[in-house]
Amino acid sequence: MLELKQIHKVFNEGTPDEKIALDRINLTLNEGDFVTVIGSNGAGKSTLMNMISGVMTPDVGTVLIDGQNVTPISEYKRAKLIGRVFQDPMAGTAPSMTIEENLAMAYSRNKSRSLRKGVTKKRKEYFQEVLATLHLGLENRLTAKVGLLSGGERQALSLLMATFTEPSILLLDEHTAALDPARAELITNLTKEIVEKFNLTTLMVTHNMQQALDLGNRLIMMDKGQIILEVDENQKGSLTIEQLLYEFQRIRGAKMASDRALLS
Ligand SMILES: Nc1ncnc2c1ncn2[C@@H]1O[C@H](COP(=O)(O)OP(=O)(O)OP(=O)(O)O)[C@@H](O)[C@H]1O
Ligand SMILES: [Mg+2]
Repeated sequence: MLELKQIHKVFNEGTPDEKIALDRINLTLNEGDFVTVIGSNGAGKSTLMNMISGVMTPDVGTVLIDGQNVTPISEYKRAKLIGRVFQDPMAGTAPSMTIEENLAMAYSRNKSRSLRKGVTKKRKEYFQEVLATLHLGLENRLTAKVGLLSGGERQALSLLMATFTEPSILLLDEHTAALDPARAELITNLTKEIVEKFNLTTLMVTHNMQQALDLGNRLIMMDKGQIILEVDENQKGSLTIEQLLYEFQRIRGAKMASDRALLS
């Protein structure tokens, strides 16, 4: 489903600011895999997401989606294969547009041009139906401007939009981090539901260790541009936070840099 081969990315090469953000990463996701990604600040997690979605191109290496080499393909052209939700609730939606306009935009991403005409009555009903699954009452606010929604409401909408067209890959980059605990839990549960419903192949970055353990069937830990630990389906169920921290110290010989990780 997703294959990363020898992905290498250096920022500011040849300058004093040189940074190896990704150091020859290899990773394979099978259909329906849900992989949680943890690691300290600057480990390369978001850069990895950017490589998959095509926001950035690797210096070396290949990205394959459904067996197709997408490395040279632009972000725009890859968009129908990939759904993405960011940490910032403001990032995934257009604030000056209404809920139904945002949904129409997401919906048309995967459709031919002839189908892109505005919001028809039939489509409105469909939007209401899917919004109702969020249990936030958004189905009654189709014409409300998205900029007026709360962070949690916007993240729920972003998640819905990202998965509308049943993408091959779903990328979640700390998408619950900016929310209060109750909203974060709501979005976490929604994520679980949507991923299961469509059997989406998912990569989820989180600083919340418990969330990383609770969700998904696999887990990877990144540090300094490398995947330093891979936990498979058979091991994940019995893994604890203490073991994860112990593994990190064992591998790196240093305490995990991220205090945020310990808070959760
Ligand atoms: N566009 C860029 N230009 C220069 N350096 C960058 C760029 N993007 C990322 N970096 C650097 O690459 C490294 C990896 O960054 P990345 O954003 O992938 O980390 P991360 O694991 O997502 O961290 P966090 O948990 O803080 O979000 C960092 O040292 C960062 O400063
Ligand atoms: Mg990041």
